[in-house]
Amino acid sequence: MKYVIAVIQPDRLDEVLKILEEKEIHLVTVTSVLGRGRQKGISEVYRGHKEAGRLLRKVKLEIAVNEAFVKATIDAIKEGSRTGHIGDGKIFVLDLKECFRIRTGEVGEVAIG
Ligand SMILES: Nc1ncnc2c1ncn2[C@@H]1O[C@H](COP(=O)(O)OP(=O)(O)OP(=O)(O)O)[C@@H](O)[C@H]1O
Ligand SMILES: [Mg+2]
Repeated sequence: MKYVIAVIQPDRLDEVLKILEEKEIHLVTVTSVLGRGRQKGISEVYRGHKEAGRLLRKVKLEIAVNEAFVKATIDAIKEGSRTGHIGDGKIFVLDLKECFRIRTGEVGEVAIG
């Protein structure tokens, strides 16, 4: 099991979600966040974003998946969020130790999807 975290441009969210759904990946947590990458938020300000403190508005996606869905998840995020411009985003993949569906008591791979 893996926990995929992606920080992307907010205007790419709909496209990423659409591609994820096409690949049967429906379960997702989406959070509005502030962040900065290696340009420290500076260059992206010149693209028209206006944010205080050099932190730019981003969207964070979190998706827990079984191994069989890891590649499809990463590919969907890449495909939906890439424009080729700085600030397109980043994907982090963590090993996921456990998952519990609270209602049913299911654990592990059956609890994820
Ligand atoms: N090492 C990191 N740790 C935590 N968050 C990060 C890290 N790198 C990027 N992020 C988050 O991802 C967002 C998007 O990063 P961004 O795409 O600007 O990465 P980058 O490394 O600057 O690449 P690029 O040169 O393509 O802009 C950042 O605003 C920040 O929220
Ligand atoms: Mg950057």
